[in-house]
Amino acid sequence: MSDKIYSVAILGCGSRGADTYGKRVFNRPNEFKITDLCEINPIRLKETQERFNIGDDHAFLDENEFFKTKRADVMFICTQDKDHVRQCLKALELGYDVLLEKPITGSKEECYKLLDMQEKTGRKVFVCHVLRYSPAFLKSKEILDSGKLGRLVAIDAVEQVAYWHQAHSFVRGNWRNSKECVPMILAKCCHDLDYLQYFAGSRCETVSSVGDLTFFNEENAPEGSAKMCIDCKYQDTCVYSAKALYYENWKKQENTWITSVMMRCKERTEENILKELKTNPYGRCVFRCDNDVVDHQFTQMAFQNGVKANLLMTAFTQRGGRIITFYCTYGQLILNEEEGLIKVKKFGSPTENIEISSLVDQGTGHGGGDDGLVDKLHSMLDGDFTKGTSLKESLESHLMGIASEESRINHGKLVYVHQ
Ligand SMILES: NC(=O)c1ccc[n+]([C@@H]2O[C@H](COP(=O)([O-])OP(=O)(O)OC[C@H]3O[C@@H](n4cnc5c(N)ncnc54)[C@H](O)[C@@H]3O)[C@@H](O)[C@H]2O)c1
Repeated sequence: MSDKIYSVAILGCGSRGADTYGKRVFNRPNEFKITDLCEINPIRLKETQERFNIGDDHAFLDENEFFKTKRADVMFICTQDKDHVRQCLKALELGYDVLLEKPITGSKEECYKLLDMQEKTGRKVFVCHVLRYSPAFLKSKEILDSGKLGRLVAIDAVEQVAYWHQAHSFVRGNWRNSKECVPMILAKCCHDLDYLQYFAGSRCETVSSVGDLTFFNEENAPEGSAKMCIDCKYQDTCVYSAKALYYENWKKQENTWITSVMMRCKERTEENILKELKTNPYGRCVFRCDNDVVDHQFTQMAFQNGVKANLLMTAFTQRGGRIITFYCTYGQLILNEEEGLIKVKKFGSPTENIEISSLVDQGTGHGGGDDGLVDKLHSMLDGDFTKGTSLKESLESHLMGIASEESRINHGKLVYVHQ
């Protein structure tokens, strides 16, 4: 790693931009220096300026002003999905290297446009496929690559969204409506599609997918329920109740992340949270929102080297975490994030259990993947690409997701990913 200190401009100072990556690079003064911020929410901008010691001359509310000139070596683009490509194209043209939040886009044309621009400008785009940097995933890859379980034949993966996370993000929140965001298979599972092709070690050839929104709609609303949970007679009995998720959990200091997102920039007191739930969109009944994204989806994939994979994304789980079984000719490997275990089942031998916690030093977000990405970022900016994923590789998973949605809309029709 070189001793260069890379200057960083952050676009979008929300949960990912400020709280995840901003915080981590700020704590590495020998590698990075945050110099400029752009954020449309004035309160959030001020809060982030104070947090990272950024003066008013280097803080922007308006993206057009921010993009007038190149302000740092690297730009972190952490705005919402629909803005990523437009902003990344501008950043590349100005000569920035870019750390780009996923998903890149839901459009095939935009995928190729971005790749062309990267090639034309000679800059680098790193997509935040953080699971690639997560110790449990790296360990599983090492075991599979060692050949001790033989050849990989098939993968069965479950992305447990968790009932409360579905309610928060995909029913009430930012990723609820297909007019405003990419399809859920990309929003929630572009990491899964990425690691599937990474483990398969091959390009995906065909995809077939089925999935629907079956539960979070008006016909499943309990009789006499209200539009806002705080006015509803089921507010203390419904597990999806906004009062339970944002207020009761906050009181117990459990799952406080969703309450912070709901209360963005407002002081989090019990009184304020209850008041906020009267009007905030996160206070709505899950059966009476403007959501249309799926609550479960199965995707089957065939890779060019013969490996097959199945991915189930489902809202209906108590807890989050991925459960992935790799079927090989001489054994199985099960990566179970919920149980915190990797099980290595070599045929004819006792099962070997590896505790995931023993692999993760200090990392939290995405099983240590958020820290893992920041660990590698400096070397990647130096030009050492062995440490991470190229834009080209990241685009593969997006093409798989786009094909998957096309198949789902067409009731499971087989779609060729590269046609
Ligand atoms: N890598 C991962 O695992 C992962 C996890 C969660 C979210 N994400 C992705 O990260 C992105 C950001 O998500 P988040 O949870 O941080 O959302 P967020 O709403 O917390 O943050 C986005 C911020 O961008 C600001 N913003 C919006 N438009 C802007 C503009 N034109 N100029 C400047 N600021 C603008 C918003 O005000 C907000 O503060 C999304 O694309 C999301 O899908 C990735």
